[in-house]
Amino acid sequence: MALLSTSNFFFFFSLIFFFPPYSSYFAVSLPTALLIPITKGLSTLQYTTIIKQRTPLKPTKLVLDLGASFNWVNCQKNYQSSTYKPIFCNSSLCASLKSLACSNCYEPPRPGCANDSCALFPENSVTRDSTIGDALIDAIALPTTDGYNPGRLVLISDFVFSCSRTFLLKGLAKGVAGVAALGRSNFSLPAQISTTFSSQYLFALCLSGSSSSTGVAFLGTAGPYVFLPQQVDLSKSLIYTSLILNPVSDTVITYYGQPSDEYFIGVTAVKVNGKAVQLNETLLAIDDETGFGGTKMSTVVPYTTMESSIYEVFTEAFISEAAALNLTVIKPVKPFNVCFPVDEVGSTRVGPAVPTVDLVMEQKENVFWRIFGANSMVKLGEEGEEMWCLAFVDSGRNPRTSILIGAHQMEDNLLQFDVGSKRLGFSSSLLLKQTTCSNFNFTSSSSSSNNR
Ligand SMILES: *[C@@H]1O[C@H](CO)[C@@H](O)[C@H](O)[C@H]1NC(C)=O
Ligand SMILES: *[C@@H]1O[C@H](CO)[C@@H](O)[C@H](O)[C@H]1NC(C)=O
Ligand SMILES: *[C@@H]1O[C@H](CO)[C@@H](O)[C@H](O)[C@H]1NC(C)=O
Ligand SMILES: *[C@@H]1O[C@H](CO)[C@@H](O)[C@H](O)[C@H]1NC(C)=O
Ligand SMILES: *[C@@H]1O[C@H](CO)[C@@H](O)[C@H](O)[C@H]1NC(C)=O
Ligand SMILES: *[C@@H]1O[C@H](CO)[C@@H](O)[C@H](O)[C@H]1NC(C)=O
Repeated sequence: MALLSTSNFFFFFSLIFFFPPYSSYFAVSLPTALLIPITKGLSTLQYTTIIKQRTPLKPTKLVLDLGASFNWVNCQKNYQSSTYKPIFCNSSLCASLKSLACSNCYEPPRPGCANDSCALFPENSVTRDSTIGDALIDAIALPTTDGYNPGRLVLISDFVFSCSRTFLLKGLAKGVAGVAALGRSNFSLPAQISTTFSSQYLFALCLSGSSSSTGVAFLGTAGPYVFLPQQVDLSKSLIYTSLILNPVSDTVITYYGQPSDEYFIGVTAVKVNGKAVQLNETLLAIDDETGFGGTKMSTVVPYTTMESSIYEVFTEAFISEAAALNLTVIKPVKPFNVCFPVDEVGSTRVGPAVPTVDLVMEQKENVFWRIFGANSMVKLGEEGEEMWCLAFVDSGRNPRTSILIGAHQMEDNLLQFDVGSKRLGFSSSLLLKQTTCSNFNFTSSSSSSNNR
């Protein structure tokens, strides 16, 4: 549960009266495509980005959280800015934030310490700790892109986020000051970019499989998304499926009727080497009363997890198909259960030669996300005793979400979250297209940023 004891705060819960329609409080300028670099942490397996914020601008490292509703940063330590503004509880902005609390502070005013201040509940998605924090407005700056290279920086002067305190960073990667939120809310990073620049509410995520090279996310643009070496535009080769709304939020602090800001998709079957696995289909649907079931995507879960009964039949099918390739299972390394000796496994352009895994969407036989060895397997073990392990984990008998697609399965795949049109575009493995997510050309070119 949330940690709500606070020494510095006096806060009270207040009923929020919502007065629609609230007017736009952002300056409107030209539609702009932006980008952020994304790096994978070797030991934490967390993905981080660096965003310039405050005045003067300071590069700030944030953990990327696909399902989070709003950005948050630690304001308790080293938050200095000449442009920050608190948000008052009685403001329409506070109402549209659906704030559940209003806080006062008995210390000298500073970012995160104001009276009558609109409060939010930032959450650490790794530890599931939460705290109360003031909502704040300050400047952030991101590079534009023409889809080929980064261009000039643009400023969003009215960016809304939450403050938090140092303890909430526990469990997150070293050097991180908070979280960058990509969830389907009205105040995630892509949502605010869309509001500020009147661009589509849409972003594309491309996680690099390697911690030594950088992936990318494109914000506010449906393309092009161009990758070296052959300048392939990946926006042209996407398959689409619906993004499904889970009507029940799973945040630590939530209000009745709050929908989830996480991304769910309609997986209706799982196939191994093209053969359907016999699983309990009830588990693949979302229960609208409880929010349990279904399939969601997460960048803070390293490997896909499956409810026990699904995991069992899935791994049985995988072992049986692998046996046909003469692969013999050996003693696994936790948390995995199915591993093969490296020297038995051949290699292909799309990773180790193992059975394919297909996630079939919305009962459409021709709409499936095919997962090849590079995304289904992970190499583990000592030198000389190396093994490939099936990178899927058993999440027990009654998990909230039946299939939780983790980051390893998304790596070197381009995923377009078209929130406005409620659909997900997916590319399957970029290795098939002779590129990877780390092949975006980060060399900025001033001439290319506007004239292509
Ligand atoms: C909101 O509260 C602030 C500070 O308490 C006050 O100055 C302002 O007049 C109030 N605005 C409205 C619309 O009530
Ligand atoms: C909040 O109000 C109290 C009581 O009026 C005052 O003592 C305190 O300094 C104020 N806090 C801030 C941050 O302005
Ligand atoms: C988000 O904004 C839209 C458009 O302003 C509004 O219709 C919708 O109710 C908002 N959603 C939430 C959860 O506040
Ligand atoms: C399928 O899963 C649902 C939800 O957990 C459960 O109620 C039902 O008994 C399961 N059906 C079978 C055949 O196991
Ligand atoms: C598996 O091994 C058998 C017997 O050694 C051999 O006949 C068969 O061709 C092998 N299959 C594959 C896919 O390598
Ligand atoms: C990357 O972009 C820069 C700037 O446009 C360009 O000069 C360079 O040739 C590009 N690199 C490759 C490998 O194409």
